[in-house]
Amino acid sequence: MARVVGFISEKGGTGKTTACYHIAVALQQYHDKRLLVVDTDYQRGGITGRFFPELIESFGSGEIAGTTMFHKFQELYSAGERSPEVDIRTWKDRIDVIVSDPRLSTVTEDKLPSTHNIRENNRSLLKHLQVIDYVLDDIKKEYDYILIDSHPEVSDVLRSVIYSSDYCVSPVKFDRQSSIGVATVIGEINNVNADVELIKNSLDGDLQYTDTVFSGSIGMMAREWRGDLKQTEYLERNRLRRTGNVFEAYVTEGDGLRRALLEREPVYDVGGNNANKQAEQFRDITLEFLGKCP
Ligand SMILES: Nc1ncnc2c1ncn2[C@@H]1O[C@H](COP(=O)(O)OP(=O)(O)OP(=O)(O)O)[C@@H](O)[C@H]1O
Ligand SMILES: [Mg+2]
Repeated sequence: MARVVGFISEKGGTGKTTACYHIAVALQQYHDKRLLVVDTDYQRGGITGRFFPELIESFGSGEIAGTTMFHKFQELYSAGERSPEVDIRTWKDRIDVIVSDPRLSTVTEDKLPSTHNIRENNRSLLKHLQVIDYVLDDIKKEYDYILIDSHPEVSDVLRSVIYSSDYCVSPVKFDRQSSIGVATVIGEINNVNADVELIKNSLDGDLQYTDTVFSGSIGMMAREWRGDLKQTEYLERNRLRRTGNVFEAYVTEGDGLRRALLEREPVYDVGGNNANKQAEQFRDITLEFLGKCP
């Protein structure tokens, strides 16, 4: 049964997509894990484009073909028939992917049909939180890990990502902004857990839910001096540790990942000094990931 891990951050451009992609590839390539990656980033669809460059254009024009997570929210709004089925594409026979849909940006609890019955409304809010989980539950047994990439914004989609996740990690830069962003993300995880508890108590019937756990921040684009973290970044990492767990392993800022992006390959397959170093760092992060998201 798959472990579900959400990659979330409040701040944009912190390396979520890069981390999610490289950890997914490493889990498959070096640890033989069966992987599903879910892209819920409705603005960029970055990981969708990383796996399937040919889809960038359709994503940009708002026309992603097939059944996506968006339709699963839509089914709730129209109160019609529901089914957990979505389209799954396979990257190089190695990793399954549920691609993003720009229309996910229109998802909001406000569209739920509302009634004058509080319990009925609670049930409906719970279903909204559960949409991603509802889809994944149906296919979890086919994978070891399901990684979810997200858009950097506290939204109803993100809340559904958190609900469906066993663990969340937060890729960060070691700077002050990130420390604040991580606190927000941990706060949102706590909110979802507390909301579920409240709704659960207001409804009869049993709900199987285990609190989502924050597994830690992952340092991306770290800068070193003579083989150690620069003093300012070292201090920021210590500050982050007071907020929540921080991965020991981190990735340094460098050209390897930029080249990997241009060549549309994982950094493991690019070659060159910096790419080799960053590939090694991502393998270390992945090992730690296996321990922190068991
Ligand atoms: N260690 C690194 N060294 C150099 N460039 C990096 C590194 N990590 C990430 N980048 C680059 O930084 C940019 C932002 O990274 P990425 O897209 O992964 O962030 P993100 O958090 O997913 O962004 P968004 O919030 O917009 O989805 C990308 O161009 C990526 O290639
Ligand atoms: Mg991204």
